[in-house]
Amino acid sequence: MNSAHPLDPASAEEYLSGREIMAKAGLLASPVRFAYYGLDDADKAAVLAGPGSESGWAADRRLRAYLVNTDTGESTDAVVSLTRGEVVSTRTLDPAQDGQMPILDSDFALVEEVTKADPGWRAAMARRGYEDLSQIRTCAITAGVFGVADDDRRRMVRVLAFVMPHEHALAWAHPVDGLAAYVDLIEKKVFKVTDEFELPVPAENSDYDDEAVRGPHRTTLKPVEITQPDGPSFTLDGYALSWQGWSMRIGFDAREGLSLHQVSLQDRPVLYRASIPEMVVPYGDPKFRHWQAYFDTGEYLVGKFANSLELGCDCLGEIAYLDATVTDDTGAPRTIPNAICVHEEDFGILWKHTDVFNGSAQSRRQRRLVVSYFSTVGNYDYGFYWYFYLDGTIELEVKATGILFTSAYPHAGHAHSTEVAPGLAAPYHQHMFSARLDMNVDGQANAVEEVDVSGQPIGPDNPYGNAIVQNVTRLTRESQAGRRTDGTRGRTWRIISTERANRFGRPTSYTLYPEPTPALLADPDSPLAARAGFAANHLWVTRYDPDQRWPAGDFVNQNPGGAGLPAFTAGDRDIDGQDIVLWHTFGPTHIPRPEDWPVMPVARCGFVLKPTGFFDRNPTLDVAPPAAHCSDG
Ligand code: CO
Repeated sequence: MNSAHPLDPASAEEYLSGREIMAKAGLLASPVRFAYYGLDDADKAAVLAGPGSESGWAADRRLRAYLVNTDTGESTDAVVSLTRGEVVSTRTLDPAQDGQMPILDSDFALVEEVTKADPGWRAAMARRGYEDLSQIRTCAITAGVFGVADDDRRRMVRVLAFVMPHEHALAWAHPVDGLAAYVDLIEKKVFKVTDEFELPVPAENSDYDDEAVRGPHRTTLKPVEITQPDGPSFTLDGYALSWQGWSMRIGFDAREGLSLHQVSLQDRPVLYRASIPEMVVPYGDPKFRHWQAYFDTGEYLVGKFANSLELGCDCLGEIAYLDATVTDDTGAPRTIPNAICVHEEDFGILWKHTDVFNGSAQSRRQRRLVVSYFSTVGNYDYGFYWYFYLDGTIELEVKATGILFTSAYPHAGHAHSTEVAPGLAAPYHQHMFSARLDMNVDGQANAVEEVDVSGQPIGPDNPYGNAIVQNVTRLTRESQAGRRTDGTRGRTWRIISTERANRFGRPTSYTLYPEPTPALLADPDSPLAARAGFAANHLWVTRYDPDQRWPAGDFVNQNPGGAGLPAFTAGDRDIDGQDIVLWHTFGPTHIPRPEDWPVMPVARCGFVLKPTGFFDRNPTLDVAPPAAHCSDG
């Protein structure tokens, strides 16, 4: 039995005791390393049952470790029970079926060392004029699976090089194109060099913090200060957060980053669990770098790279921070101070009306609770912001910023990239995120309706052709629920309670409003589409299954494909009136602009969940007018 809440993130002490249990079981003989180490989801029924009277929670507290022997490549998926002090299960991966464990921290240094030591690669660099490699930075890129005989079984990465002419230079501005080293991470050597073409290394200085590039700082922006003299309106008790009728618990994991649990509004459940458990960034240049596609979550572990946030820079106002605890390659805990930011923001007008008949003029301010974190994965930086509004709206916004991935610009009018500096190209790419939304709208029994809108042709019931209707399709089986957005029909998906009705006798519900952006553009027969099957649709609905956590499968790195959502839905389960999970793919197809260089202004994407007949009327009538400037009208 445990006293800690079963949804709390794993603590440093828990990581250490889990490691102790694995060591005693003989799983950690050197050189075994942790490619991932995190908390397994607690049993849902035990969580919903609540704590027992004296003995604490009945839920078994379990840690999961992805272990790699860096000499043999043997990879083991191990689960330990902290509650029972024992190893629960181990499974050895079959690389041909399962792929490889995620990239280790130590892989990056290893890659730099062995690449720079390889004679073939050195010769190719020397031909390009780089004898001295002290200015060269290597970039290890996950390999994917392309069916090439010597690529697809070994644990490997592909390596590109960048020139960093001085200590503060922006190396991404100076790609060495046409040359890649393929590194075997177990043999610890380069096993292949591809040297396909030579293009001049772009030379322009892009150090965006160099006064010679940016000019003097502007002095015309006057200060804006956010003050909350009475403190914030939320309360944070451990990982339990509440604000204006909302309540939820905050979780964090090295792989998926921030997660939110048991989100409820006015004591009515809305979401059991919400997170962004996968993302892939496929690049669209077919020449040479056809293999470039990062699964930042499943291959690199986006949570592990969470930033420490700084007050006044990253978040404004009365902030509450939470630290995150992840682990290093040895399974030793590492604390990321101030990783998660909780604050509230004024968000303009909530509602407003000046009545032509009764003369009443009233205005109310919207406000939102923000739970966020930022992560840096290589060249890109991603902010994940969950917003909770006074009117019951939930929004997820991803802020993409940082540095575009670059290559040399091959020729004017190139079809797959934008020239962003002289001779410097930013290839077209997509950012495909997957949100896992374990919905719980007024209880576990939920169903999903697809709602389109359309006009109607002129006819006997519509003589002037002005009719507007909703076209509602109930998605009753998993096979029917792989759906795409349709902006021309205003397509939304409504998650309804099959047990509770509002005062109009209609099911209480929340509606998912997607952004109408393309799904995965890679050919359905491509190696990438097999591995990023989740991104083929904007919506999937599955019956809840605790083993179905990761939309591209448990093991993403060098997985040959077919894992994750396509496999989850193959059984075609009933999803009508069941405990269901929505999986929403979203994100931009990024055609880089010159203005995205040398550092990219934040590009936003995400989705919105709005109460739809969840309440019987506007739930914010009781919000008081702002005290300082507005009268009661
Ligand atoms: Co982009």
